[in-house]
Amino acid sequence: MAVRLLIFGRQGAGKGTQSVLLARHYGAAHISTGDMLREAVANATPIGLEAKSFMDSGCLVPDEVMLGVVEERLARPDVMAGGFLLDGFPRTIGQAEALLGLTPIDVAVDLVVAEDVVLERISSRRVCSSCGRIYSVSEPPTRAWICDTCGGDVVQRDDDTPAAVTKRLGAYTSETQPTIGWFDGKDVLVTVDGLGTREEVSARLISAIDHARHA
Ligand code: AP5
Ligand code: MG
Repeated sequence: MAVRLLIFGRQGAGKGTQSVLLARHYGAAHISTGDMLREAVANATPIGLEAKSFMDSGCLVPDEVMLGVVEERLARPDVMAGGFLLDGFPRTIGQAEALLGLTPIDVAVDLVVAEDVVLERISSRRVCSSCGRIYSVSEPPTRAWICDTCGGDVVQRDDDTPAAVTKRLGAYTSETQPTIGWFDGKDVLVTVDGLGTREEVSARLISAIDHARHA
């Protein structure tokens, strides 16, 4: 059956890393609003031009822009066929209310990693500027900073500066943590420890999601 999942977590918790693996595991569409916005910026679309200054400074992009992007994406055939895994959406209670007006959710996961650990992960993160594949300084691509998947340049994200990271973590506390609490009240939230190897965290996530789906 098609799955309808959300993944929450502090910046650098591993949402992007894990949601690619989870989407493959469940046959669902991986929908990362951050990736979609970065693609829009790279292509200089009207949404990209509007979003860039918010993103570079670490601020949330306004709800009305995000809702248009997500509503259009959720209507595509791959979502109809296999369901979806949303990475980075919703981040405000307004976005959450609008989302549940579009579709029900089976499970919302909160991937928990402490702030000192995420700061270290973000400072060593590198991403493919072409396909978005995530690397780190300790796990680089095989050829120096050329993506193993698509041959694109692997670089540091424009918003991985200390000032923007501080701002993003602040928005997480003020906007996204209350949103997570709002989902807890809907009885779909599970909390998963994001410390450990990628494989350990994936196994924990799949077990928690399967348990919640069949509860
Ligand atoms: P977005 O792209 O979503 O960024 P974010 O929330 O800041 O989250 P990150 O991508 O930084 O963290 P992640 O949890 O995905 O970590 P990752 O897997 O890369 O959003 C960017 C911007 O877009 C926002 O600031 C905002 O402006 C805008 N935006 C997006 N959605 C929006 C919305 N809904 N509303 C409004 N604005 C929106 O992992 C981090 C590093 O850790 C990597 O190097 C990785 O290799 C490493 N790592 C992962 N797992 C492990 C592990 N188990 N052990 C060791 N290292 C690990
Ligand atoms: Mg991410």
